Amino acid sequence: MCEINISVLTRHDWSRYKSVRLNSLQDSPDSFGSTYQQEVALSDAEWQSRLDLKWRGLEALPLIAELEGQSVGLAWGVIHEPDTKIAHIYQMWVSPAVRGKGIAKALLGNISTWALNKGCECIKLTVTTSNAAAVGLYASSGYLPTGPLEELRAGSSLMVQPMVKRLVSTARYL
Ligand SMILES: CC(C)(COP(=O)(O)OP(=O)(O)OC[C@H]1O[C@@H](n2cnc3c(N)ncnc32)[C@H](O)[C@@H]1OP(=O)(O)O)[C@@H](O)C(=O)NCCC(=O)NCCS
Repeated sequence: MCEINISVLTRHDWSRYKSVRLNSLQDSPDSFGSTYQQEVALSDAEWQSRLDLKWRGLEALPLIAELEGQSVGLAWGVIHEPDTKIAHIYQMWVSPAVRGKGIAKALLGNISTWALNKGCECIKLTVTTSNAAAVGLYASSGYLPTGPLEELRAGSSLMVQPMVKRLVSTARYL
C-alpha cells in the first residue's frame, strides 16, 4: 500500500474538507449526530469558517488523511473552554475502500499526541453502540465506557456510549 499522508486542515482547505465530510455523512449516517441534509445546506463561507480556528477562538486539530492524492479519512480533536484538560474527538471517518489498514488508529495517535502536548489529561468521544468497528477501534486504543447512554440525535432510536481515554495517570475525569 502507498503511504498515508496525515495533515492538518487550514481554512484554505475548506473545499477538500467539505467534500470528505459530506462523503462521510452520506456513507455513515448512523455514526454522527449531524446529518448529510443539515451539512449539505451549509454555504461555502460556513465551511470556510469551520476551519478558521483563530477567528472562532477554537483550540482544535482538524486532520485529513490522504492516499495517492485522494482524501480518505477525517478526524477532529477539539478542546472546549472552560474544560481545557479534556480533548474531544469528532467526525472520525475512513473511506470504506481503505478500512482495516490502521488509518483511524493513526488519526487517533496524532490527536492523542496533540492533546497531551496541549496539557490535556484525557480524551472523550461518543460512539454509536451498534457500530462494532468504531467500538472495536476505541476499545483497542485504550478508551473505556463512561457514563450513561445518550440518544445519537433527538428522536433517534440509536444510542451512543460516551468513552474516555486517560492520557496521564493523575487524570481526574474518569
Ligand atoms: C471506525 C472506523 C473509523 C475505523 O477505521 P479503520 O481505518 O478501518 O480502523 P483501523 O484500521 O485503524 O483499525 C484499528 C482497530 O480498530 C478495530 N476495528 C477496525 N475495524 C473493525 C471492525 N470492522 N470490527 C471490529 N473492530 C474493528 C480493530 O481493533 C483495529 O485494530 P486491529 O486491526 O489491530 O485489529 C471506520 O470503520 C469508519 O470510518 N466507520 C464509519 C464512520 C464511523 O463509524 N466513525 C466513528 C464515529 S465515532
